[in-house]
Amino acid sequence: MAVFKSLLAALTGAVFVLAQSATQYVDSFSGITFLGYTDPELDVTVGFVLPPLSTPPSNEYIVQLVAPVTNGYTGLSVGGTMADSLLFTLWPYDNEIILGPRWTSGYVLPLAYAGPQITLLPSSAVNSTHIRATFRCQNCTTWEDGSLGNGDLTSDSVVAYVVATTTQPSDPADVDSVIQEHDDFDFFGLDLSSAHSDSYSSYISGSATTSAVPTTTGLPSTTSSIPSTTSSAPTAVQTECGGTGYTGPTVCASGLTCVAVSAPYYSQCQS
Ligand SMILES: *[C@@H]1O[C@H](CO)[C@@H](O)[C@H](O)[C@H]1NC(C)=O
Ligand SMILES: *[C@@H]1O[C@H](CO)[C@@H](O)[C@H](O)[C@H]1NC(C)=O
Repeated sequence: MAVFKSLLAALTGAVFVLAQSATQYVDSFSGITFLGYTDPELDVTVGFVLPPLSTPPSNEYIVQLVAPVTNGYTGLSVGGTMADSLLFTLWPYDNEIILGPRWTSGYVLPLAYAGPQITLLPSSAVNSTHIRATFRCQNCTTWEDGSLGNGDLTSDSVVAYVVATTTQPSDPADVDSVIQEHDDFDFFGLDLSSAHSDSYSSYISGSATTSAVPTTTGLPSTTSSIPSTTSSAPTAVQTECGGTGYTGPTVCASGLTCVAVSAPYYSQCQS
């Protein structure tokens, strides 16, 4: 099996001399103020925003990941290292956003990881130059053998992002596709104490539906077995209208189109 070791090698020596740290920026597409970082060379932006501190602590946050469409894939580690961290992989396929959680205990191909619930927020898009995924991640602060900020949501954390600049996933239609080792990576420090926002609930209120990410490492269902009969057409923009496991109406109201925003598992009505 291919070994993904460059992230390990570099982080081992460099984590204590972290050069970059996150700063606030406003994403003009969503209006969300993120704490994040844009890598000028890789042209990758990563942003985070967390709910206000509470007891017990919330297990969710919003992530933004923006990358050139020419990347084979872009990866993100919210634990900083590749092993024992919650990872995400992102790439465009047919103008759709393919995004899913992964995990690995070692420096080998990370596989799909069950548990995190990902909801793409409406401002997510693929355009001619970039893929922009802005997503709510629930059940995402702890994972097997790790947690965000080592369990302290007011501490410093390391966020790493990686890109494969040339190699496409083997099967780009499949969120759980085999991917090759990344060509490049970078990372930054995230001060979780300043990543909490009182506006959090308004940031997520635009997303009424939640799509569960496929939870097995096997092949995804190739057909969504969407019923052809329609009881009542979803009338609202962003209403779910298809995807893996979805059994409701698949025809949107007049003027709206059912768009597979995250094939194969989530479609929504869009104007
Ligand atoms: C949360 O995620 C973990 C894996 O990190 C999983 O074992 C657990 O079942 C998930 N909980 C819920 C309620 O989905
Ligand atoms: C494409 O998306 C990127 C990243 O969000 C954005 O900076 C750029 O302005 C967009 N281009 C167009 C033509 O909308």
